[in-house]
Amino acid sequence: MVGFDIEAMTSDIYYDDEQEGLDEQIMIRFSHVAAEDTPKDRTTSKFAALVEDKTNGKVKVHIYPNATLYNDANEWEAVQNGSVEMIAPATAKISEHYPKWQILDLPYAFPNYQAIEEAYEGKIGETLLKALDRSKVKGLSLWYNGFKQITNQEYLIRTPDDFNRLHFRTMPGVVIKEQFNQLNASTSTISFSKTYQNLEVNFVDGQENTLSNINTKKFYEHQQYLTISNHGYLGYGVLINRDFWNSLSPDIQESITEAMNEATSWGRRHAIEINDQHARELRSNQPMNIHTLTTEERFQWEQALQPVYEKTKQTVSSELMKEINRIKE
Ligand code: LMR
Repeated sequence: MVGFDIEAMTSDIYYDDEQEGLDEQIMIRFSHVAAEDTPKDRTTSKFAALVEDKTNGKVKVHIYPNATLYNDANEWEAVQNGSVEMIAPATAKISEHYPKWQILDLPYAFPNYQAIEEAYEGKIGETLLKALDRSKVKGLSLWYNGFKQITNQEYLIRTPDDFNRLHFRTMPGVVIKEQFNQLNASTSTISFSKTYQNLEVNFVDGQENTLSNINTKKFYEHQQYLTISNHGYLGYGVLINRDFWNSLSPDIQESITEAMNEATSWGRRHAIEINDQHARELRSNQPMNIHTLTTEERFQWEQALQPVYEKTKQTVSSELMKEINRIKE
């Protein structure tokens, strides 16, 4: 948005007085860092349409994608202080503040999509959202993106040894850092919106991400090699400012909750196909050298990354660890 004045929009509820005939129009500013045409942006659009529909236009959701309003460095604070009403950071980014959330970044915890659904919409998701209960934000849902893959600019990575001494951009989170440590690679935590430029100047050799993020952010322009490893899952916690939530009437809260449930289920059904579409585009349009791990290579990665589970046990309750191990099997 050009000429946008953040300071002027810091009240909890923003009344859009351009809307004739709708008194007390409620505006939800939803800021996120992913590009358009990604699972997160499309699920947010779905949510926005559903909210507007269910409240007969009384609540409008204004989406700010691509870190146009806030980025990884400041969106957490922005939702806490009510500068925006909603954000949907990657679960790894929430784990910076709520360490239990790191359980969702454990490598090879999810053998298939059903396992992710079980974690996100079952006991683990419920416990993680509840962990936010006494904070300034309310956790509304967990949203889907896809499995993470590895890109880099040096050579094709096939085995755990290939990581030796490479330097990776990562999201924040102890588990992710530990994952690369186990592979003898070093890491720098860098905002998503600054990743492209750090790849461009070779500050980092590589990064891990979903195919939709790799394609929409054009990482392929500076990353020649792509390893389809499916070693971790990238999804989101959907957060709303708690004072704002509490200021809404029960029927508006109910409409938002319904819209969120329907949008979550839409995202679950569409995230795979959105990532597949980006995979096809990467394969057909980009000169990347792509390798999918063989069963044997995947086994080697799983073995190499097993110690990350031991370390995580120290932070995450045994109950949640038991649940993730059950899902993993
Ligand atoms: C990243 O930082 O790589 C992702 O969390 C970006 C996103 O929101 O999908």
